[in-house]
Amino acid sequence: MNNSKLYINLSAPSNIALVKYWGKKNGQKPINPSLSLTLNNCQTHMEVVIEKSDFFDLSIEFESIPNEKFRQKILHKISKLGPEFEKWLPAFSNLKYTIKSYNSFPHSSGIASSASSMAALSFVFKCVLEQFYKIETNRNEWSSLARQLSGSASRSVDAPFMAWGIHQKYFQLKDDYALNLDNILEQQKVHPDFKNMHDAIVIVDAGVKSVSSSDGHALMDRHPHRESRIALANLHFEQIIEAMVAGNFLEFADILEREALDLHAMMMTSSPSVILLKPNSLKVIDWVRRTREQEKINISFTIDAGPNIHLIYLDKDREKVLELLKAEQAKKMDAIFNNIIFDHQGTGPMIHKLHWMD
Ligand code: PMV
Repeated sequence: MNNSKLYINLSAPSNIALVKYWGKKNGQKPINPSLSLTLNNCQTHMEVVIEKSDFFDLSIEFESIPNEKFRQKILHKISKLGPEFEKWLPAFSNLKYTIKSYNSFPHSSGIASSASSMAALSFVFKCVLEQFYKIETNRNEWSSLARQLSGSASRSVDAPFMAWGIHQKYFQLKDDYALNLDNILEQQKVHPDFKNMHDAIVIVDAGVKSVSSSDGHALMDRHPHRESRIALANLHFEQIIEAMVAGNFLEFADILEREALDLHAMMMTSSPSVILLKPNSLKVIDWVRRTREQEKINISFTIDAGPNIHLIYLDKDREKVLELLKAEQAKKMDAIFNNIIFDHQGTGPMIHKLHWMD
């Protein structure tokens, strides 16, 4: 093992689920398959110095402030890794990591950062295995480690569309890690119209979520609609891929929206019942549906576990959508459309610098 310190500067993106992962089985595995779009602008950047130490240690600054809660969370997750992660153990022993982490998206934007931060952190561990111990890991192993840190992070290791969780039609899919949709489609391809898909996130409420995603997943354990939710998510997964291959936006939009609303329906009818949508969320949804109908443009929406509405549209309609949003902002009657994060399909995680220091 080399005696010098290793410096790594890398980034990993967030992703938005088109078919949602909601509910866990056997620890950190999904009860249904999910499909996501990897984003470009919502990223976690990490600058890390790794040096030899007598024991495994981490120090983490998030946006220049030491973050003990994040540190404890990571140490806890690593301590719970099962025997299948034995290959990674050298990365978690006799090394000290000094981590500076930044998000490219506003802190209180209501955008979950666990997918990008845990994908970035597991990327750091991957680089350490390679650089210090000459142990190579492939993307599936990396996605698997990211999954243990946060389920949706398993889908942030590649781009543009990532699929995670077994499905009877696509036999290559696994619960352990996410795969690139291109690799499971075989002879088929996503229609060129669906290249460079956009996601404009209308921030309805930037506050902290009232239910954490782990508590949210647990609500599915004894949910009265659990079995029908699993069946519907499997159906949506298959149907949305078919619509993307056919280039049928209206079909895609119909599945995308009902899927997002099903996630919220599950929350509303769980015990305890959780309502995350706000009155303005419904106003944005209504605007999307009216605009699609009246303007004949390819715009749709999805929703994460929160009140913010993700406007999903195709590249060919980008200018028209921007124009319509500007018109809404100009109305100034209510400020619903005043806080929007514009994002689009990204290219996946990246190493910006990696070198040894004396
Ligand atoms: O990765 P987690 O545990 O934060 O769960 C993410 C859950 C959703 O964002 C609601 C859906 C998804 O598939 O990303």
